[in-house]
Amino acid sequence: MVHTVKPDEIIARCKAIAELSEQPGCTTRTFLSPPMREVHRILRVRMESLGMSVSVDSAGNLRGFYEGIRPNASRLLIGSHLDTVPCAGAFDGILGVVLGIGVVESLNGRRLPFAIEIAGFSEEEGVRFGVPFIGSRALVGSADGALLEKRDARGVSMAQAIRDFGLDPSRMSEAILKEPVLGYLEFHIEQGPVLDQLGLPLGVVEAIVGQTQARVSFRGRANHAGTTPMHLRHDAVAAVAEWILAVEREARAKPGLVATVGQVETLPGASNVIAGEARASLDVRHASDAQRTVGVDRILSSAKDIAEQRGLKFECSATQEQQTVACDPNLVVAMEKAVERAGFPVQRMTSGAGHDAMILAQKVPVAMLFLRSPGGISHHPDECVLSEDVAAALQTGLHFLEQFEQLNA
Ligand code: GLV
Ligand code: MN
Ligand code: MN
Repeated sequence: MVHTVKPDEIIARCKAIAELSEQPGCTTRTFLSPPMREVHRILRVRMESLGMSVSVDSAGNLRGFYEGIRPNASRLLIGSHLDTVPCAGAFDGILGVVLGIGVVESLNGRRLPFAIEIAGFSEEEGVRFGVPFIGSRALVGSADGALLEKRDARGVSMAQAIRDFGLDPSRMSEAILKEPVLGYLEFHIEQGPVLDQLGLPLGVVEAIVGQTQARVSFRGRANHAGTTPMHLRHDAVAAVAEWILAVEREARAKPGLVATVGQVETLPGASNVIAGEARASLDVRHASDAQRTVGVDRILSSAKDIAEQRGLKFECSATQEQQTVACDPNLVVAMEKAVERAGFPVQRMTSGAGHDAMILAQKVPVAMLFLRSPGGISHHPDECVLSEDVAAALQTGLHFLEQFEQLNA
């Protein structure tokens, strides 16, 4: 099979969808926000034109079904997420969905011994409710009651957000994968510099690193900035600043450990008030779960020490604890063969970014194919992808279907 969709067309479709945003001038699309409706509409029209039946489940995932040769054949799931980080690029997530549809389009109506389901997940980035992977969690049955009660920055619960989109959160269990699913395939930009530096278009993912995410709070005492002598202060901003540098030191000292404080909020947040409270996010990752746990312990114990020395209270609540996930060894080999057959060098790699594949791996064998990220830039409007790499991914995707067919014969 040879791909028949123009790679520039795939790129243009992603860029058109990037225009659908909550914010003028940059791409921001969080869980079931208004622009998501138009994303669904565009993708639905395209999938229906390929003879797929399309629905939206109660977690807001767009699901397009391409029947196999026989009705009720087991399915291969191909997907990624439709939401974005604030001021995102045009490819993180959406490229995986658009490419998946492009692979189906390249079948030109041909049916396979297995069905294909395209999943456009409603949420992966964790932006709106502080918890990632809402969409894929629904498929494995872990989008439960507690999750639905989470509230966004405006106080809207997840259940309400689902209702506002015209869906019914009480039917969440209907999103769970039921029929036999043979595997899950995710195309994604690498979001890092490895392939670019090696001069390679594609990477075969063998594992996705684990991550710990948490919210922390340093609570001191708000007071007057002009009248409170320095030695009598319990300044929450000074404490969080000292801790952020400790986080950076800890990660720099451990090969493979990355730790990020990406959000800081100071309260009450006025220039003439010593902050009484500072809240921050924490994101820690390492390919080894044991090393990650040690890193998190050290980072939290330095926070406690800093709080104690400054006479503050420290609190931490974990929002995400995700173990490192291995891709399915048979599918990794199948993907390597597909890359080779498409005429490209094989490069195995580990993903530092989290992906829906991590969650799907709880239920089905997963495979991931990375496309080079020029300049290693992602989670940024300059994120891009090369036309020739999209062509390479399309062709590899079609060869993967052949390998997959052999594996499941
Ligand atoms: C998803 O983009 C992540 O945080 O890795
Ligand atoms: Mn992302
Ligand atoms: Mn992503």
